Amino acid sequence: MSSIEILKDYDVVGNYSQDEVNGFSHDVIPTLINAVIDFYPKTMLDCMAGDGNLGQRCLETFLERGVPTPELQLLEFSRVQSEIAKARLAAWDTQVWTGDVLSMKSHDGEPLFAENTFDCIMIKSANHEIPRESQVQMYSQLLRILKPGGMFINLGFAFEDENARDEVRHLAQCKDSLAGLHGAAANRYFLMKDEFYGFLRNAGFTNIRSLKTFNYNISADRVGKNYFPTDRVKYQAFKNAVASSTHLRENGFIETKGSDVAFLARGEITIAFKP
Ligand SMILES: C[S@@+](CC[C@H](N)C(=O)[O-])C[C@H]1O[C@@H](n2cnc3c(N)ncnc32)[C@H](O)[C@@H]1O
Repeated sequence: MSSIEILKDYDVVGNYSQDEVNGFSHDVIPTLINAVIDFYPKTMLDCMAGDGNLGQRCLETFLERGVPTPELQLLEFSRVQSEIAKARLAAWDTQVWTGDVLSMKSHDGEPLFAENTFDCIMIKSANHEIPRESQVQMYSQLLRILKPGGMFINLGFAFEDENARDEVRHLAQCKDSLAGLHGAAANRYFLMKDEFYGFLRNAGFTNIRSLKTFNYNISADRVGKNYFPTDRVKYQAFKNAVASSTHLRENGFIETKGSDVAFLARGEITIAFKP
């Protein structure tokens, strides 16, 4: 699958609410942001930033807490998402780059970040977009552009039950195919927690630890609203797929609320450091 096809995917999605789809409890994003602020970064990258919602929330919280705001840059693959991010962050002195985390180059081939540039890099709910065989390459790139002692903070899936991971992957592929996101359906890789830590170590990160575990709570109603709002047939097909996930149901990972049905998936906020 070529990278251009992934680009089309997130161009197709357009405006959507990532955190609404994922159904995080209210303390999850603030835990990430507070950890970033307590690190007092002067230079920061919101990587695979989508529409820039995390960068914006971070800067606002720095201000609220009276901590000097860092110089923030964003990297995002999709031109459409990058434009949304630029508009969202227009009031801030923020540079938004459209490019690829695996090469750290813009789509025009321009190298984006020098070695030892950032005190902190954050990725929210995006490392699963990168295929398994490219995972270490991604973390190696992050390590390269972090300053020595710099912090990588990742919020993402971190499965401990392999069968649950496999059924969630099936549901994600089902949603992607219904939404026309064929690049994502082919590329995505949902990590086991141990595997993730191993990839980070292989890339050279140290002092890897969990700040918080939480659940993704992804409901048919919220997926339908964000990805195929006018298509009842697709909505019903996704809902049926969730409802018939046997392992998830037998292990308490399916939640029914009124007429809506959701699946839960293990997530973690993880920090790791460049030696
Ligand atoms: C699930 S979204 C999350 C976006 C954002 N972090 C958030 O939480 O709202 C994943 C994002 O990763 C971006 N992405 C996927 N592959 C990428 C790559 N190779 N380089 C940079 N960004 C990429 C996608 O375009 C998409 O916007």
